[in-house]
Amino acid sequence: MNYKEHIRVIHDFPQPGIRFKDITTLLNNGAVYKQVIDTLADHYRGSGIDLVAGPEARGFVIGAPLAYALGVGFVPIRKSGKLPGETIEAGYDLEYGKDKLAVHKDAILPGQRVLIADDLLATGGTISTTINLINQLGGDIVGAAFLIELIYLNGRDKLQDLDVFSLVQY
Ligand code: PRP
Repeated sequence: MNYKEHIRVIHDFPQPGIRFKDITTLLNNGAVYKQVIDTLADHYRGSGIDLVAGPEARGFVIGAPLAYALGVGFVPIRKSGKLPGETIEAGYDLEYGKDKLAVHKDAILPGQRVLIADDLLATGGTISTTINLINQLGGDIVGAAFLIELIYLNGRDKLQDLDVFSLVQY
């Protein structure tokens, strides 16, 4: 499957110089979206995963159906101030901008095997912060799955010990 032909590239969004990878065109196509989730699920099936964790908001679009396909729970990693229970937080820099992520303290038990999922690996800031949060809770990170990886931003370099799997590279 050539996923790239279903991903729309929009120049100068959200600011000049950024070539935004718009996955809404891919999500709009049920067969292609299903293929993405099924391919990721096939890659991780049998790996003893207990939970999938995905960062807001596009990480939910990949992570939640992946968790469903694997028959495991989903842990939302949310932007600060959104989760109602007791949380831990960590800050990070984005390709454009800054933010803070949070997770419920009781969402991951020590030793649970957690797969991280997101739509896109860019600078790796979001995933580094997600790793930080999961580590603080004692989760055992199995790997990180992405629909898209922006190779030219070297996000993998920040994630040295992590098993990274992506379906599309730019
Ligand atoms: C985007 C994308 C990834 C992250 C990748 O999310 O969905 O989560 O940026 O960038 P990084 O590797 O440089 O951290 P964004 O923060 O724009 O939030 P959204 O999903 O709510 O649009």
